[in-house]
Amino acid sequence: MTADFPAPAGVRTHPDSGHGFELVDLGPADLGELLDLQAETLSILKGSPVLRENSATMFARCLAAPEHRVLGWRKNRLLVAVAILYDARTSDESVRKYLTSDRSALAASVNLKLVIARGGFRRANLSRSLVAELERTAASRGKQEVLATIHPDNTASRGLFESLGYHEVGQASTSYGLRLIYRRPLDSSDTAFAATHTKESN
Ligand SMILES: CC(C)(COP(=O)(O)OP(=O)(O)OC[C@H]1O[C@@H](n2cnc3c(N)ncnc32)[C@H](O)[C@@H]1OP(=O)(O)O)[C@@H](O)C(=O)NCCC(=O)NCCS
Repeated sequence: MTADFPAPAGVRTHPDSGHGFELVDLGPADLGELLDLQAETLSILKGSPVLRENSATMFARCLAAPEHRVLGWRKNRLLVAVAILYDARTSDESVRKYLTSDRSALAASVNLKLVIARGGFRRANLSRSLVAELERTAASRGKQEVLATIHPDNTASRGLFESLGYHEVGQASTSYGLRLIYRRPLDSSDTAFAATHTKESN
């Protein structure tokens, strides 16, 4: 997959697209690199609670199961940013479960599980373009909303999601602490965009 995907209004693609940057779907073979990027990010955060560590088992599940999607940017082959769309369906892992137990609402919702940009590659629109692409994936799969949980002190993550039109809709009291729930409804423009894009890519 190349980096020249079209962007919805208000979302820029990376300015260096085509100059060593490549948008890639990650799979099971990329588990080690994903763990390394998470470990490097956690080490820079020096014990700050804003980013929770995902287990290798969880990452392996995200990379292997087709209902999830792990999308990344590589720069000259190095993994520099990653975002994970996680379809928990009606399970307890759905962020929607903090707001409702209605099964149709759960089925129509999807989690944006993780976003990381490598130090030295931040504020370059890498994360925003990944999340925007994953929103299109969700829309093309019939989802009606994307939800993310964010640590209240994670200014960068809150700024990222707010820049994409997400709003705080509640709070989640989790086993690892309080999290804010951010939501963006997927509307007809997302669905139309996804349908057009799928058609054009075929
Ligand atoms: C949060 C994070 C993923 C943002 O990645 P990024 O690639 O730098 O973000 P982008 O360049 O796509 O930024 C898009 C917008 O988000 C907002 N934003 C990004 N970083 C921000 C910051 N430090 N402070 C405030 N707003 C910020 C801005 O609105 C930005 O647009 P602008 O650059 O035009 O002003 C990155 O800081 C990171 O990896 N943090 C550590 C891991 C983490 O906490 N992940 C989120 C929890 S899962």
